[in-house]
Formats: sequence, C-alpha cells, structure tokens
Amino acid sequence: MIEVIATIGEVRKIVEGWKNENLGVGLVPTMGYLHAGHESLIRKAVEENDRVIVSVFVNPTQFAPNEDFDRYPRDLENDKKVCERAGADLIFHPTAEEMYPADFSTYVNVTKVSEELCGASRPGFFQGVATVVTKLFNITNADRAYFGQKDAQQLAVVRRFVRDLNMNVEIVACPIVREKDGLALSSRNAYLNAEERKAALVLSAALAKGKELLANGERDARKIESAMRRIIETEPLAKIDYVKIVDAKTIEPTADVKGTILCALAVFIGKTRLIDNFFLADAYKPE
Ligand code: PAF
Repeated sequence: MIEVIATIGEVRKIVEGWKNENLGVGLVPTMGYLHAGHESLIRKAVEENDRVIVSVFVNPTQFAPNEDFDRYPRDLENDKKVCERAGADLIFHPTAEEMYPADFSTYVNVTKVSEELCGASRPGFFQGVATVVTKLFNITNADRAYFGQKDAQQLAVVRRFVRDLNMNVEIVACPIVREKDGLALSSRNAYLNAEERKAALVLSAALAKGKELLANGERDARKIESAMRRIIETEPLAKIDYVKIVDAKTIEPTADVKGTILCALAVFIGKTRLIDNFFLADAYKPE
C-alpha cells in the first residue's frame, strides 16, 4: 500500500534521500477526493519524474467562513487507491495544525492576477491557495508541479508567484477531464443531486456557444459573454457568478478578443458553485 506521511519532517527526510540519489521529484497538490482529473495529473507526473508526491490537504485558509470547508468531500481510502493505481510514491496528508501552527502569520498575496473572476467572488481564496502551494513547494522541494486547467486562474496565480519569487519549480498544466456529456470533473460534483447534475450541463453548453461564436469570427468579448449568459439563464437551477473573457496571462478583462484569451465562468447550480473554461490561443486572426 502507498505510504501516507503526515509530518513535514518525514517528507523532508524522504525527499532528501531521493535528491541525494539525483532523482527528479514531481508534486501533485490536491485537496483529495481524487477523481479521473486528478489521476491524469498524477499519471503525467509519474511519466515525467522519478518520484511523485501527491498532497491531500483540505486547506482551511482558502475557504471563507461561509464556504464548504466542513462538508468538503473527503475519502482518503479511495485517494490511496487512485494514487497507487496511477503510480505515485507517497501521499502527504498533514493535519491543519501541522501546516498552520497557532501563531502562523505569513501569507503569499498575488495582486492583479488574483483580483478578477474567482478572486472577486471569493475574497482571500487565492491568498490561501498561494500560501499553501508555496508551503508545499518548500516542503517537497519538487522539481515539477502539476495543476489542472479547470482552475485556470489558480494556474495563472501560481505561475505568477513562482516567477515573481524566483521559485525553482516547473509548473505543468494539464487539460480538463470531462464526463462523456461534457461536465468537467470536480470533487464538488459530488454535491449535485440528479436534477442538479443535469442542470450543470449548462456550463459546457454555454462554453460551446462561446466557442461557436469565436469560430464564426465574433471578436467582441461582451457580445460573446452575453450570448453565453443567455444560455445559462434558460436553466432555472443555475445562478451566474461570472461569465468573462480575459487575457489568459494577466486575467484582465479584454473588450476585443485578441492574443491568448481565457473564457471562464462560475455558476451556482443550487448551492454548488462550479467553474469551467476554455483557452483560445492567438484568437485574433486578421481578415
Ligand atoms: O486545486 C486545488 O485542489 C487546491 O486549490 C490546491 C492547489 C491543492 C491548494 O489547496
């Protein structure tokens, strides 16, 4: 069975041994309740590294008091099976006390890139993410770290602080994994009842509309967003948080679609907030 390590000291000791043997170390940071999307990250990490650590930690600092920290789904036994099947070497599963001593007082705060989209609706979220990911990088001394593109803004935030703070870790982005009917995999899909599960298809339907308009040459970002919003508004269980086209790197809204853009949305289906997106590289093509 795969080893589950709870302390920072033990992980450091194991990684030190690996590094002494010149082995490359990959890290897949997760909050557990692993699904096929996570598994694809782990498999990619296994392909590209000699040793792979999967962190399983529901990070309290990235949840606001009104959010779902307490009920976030957890299933370490299944996580172990997924990690083992995918070829990971160890799971780092610390307690909140291990990660955040009582007098913890240092946070990583990324400005601008973390201010739009999820940053606007979830104040403090990216500070929590940037802080815990920095800690995980320092604890594991990973050469590469793997993130899913479903959390596109998270990826942009991580890339930015890694560059700004000169961290010696390569960030690898992996494609969104979807159910057959288009729903992006997410641990939070577990919250959906049968009716909500069906309703959640408006997210991928809205994205399909955006792609269709772009393929037909529409380059007015606001028009595309409005057409996507209209699709979501047909679903009574859906409530839009945001539908936005932004520059993929800076996450700043753009009026005209040009360069590489991120088309992202967040929608409540009942009480469950889901996100999804697509990237379009070199969106501007002169007529
Ligand atoms: O994407 C996630 O699951 C989390 O935000 C992360 C990167 C593991 C940090 O807690």
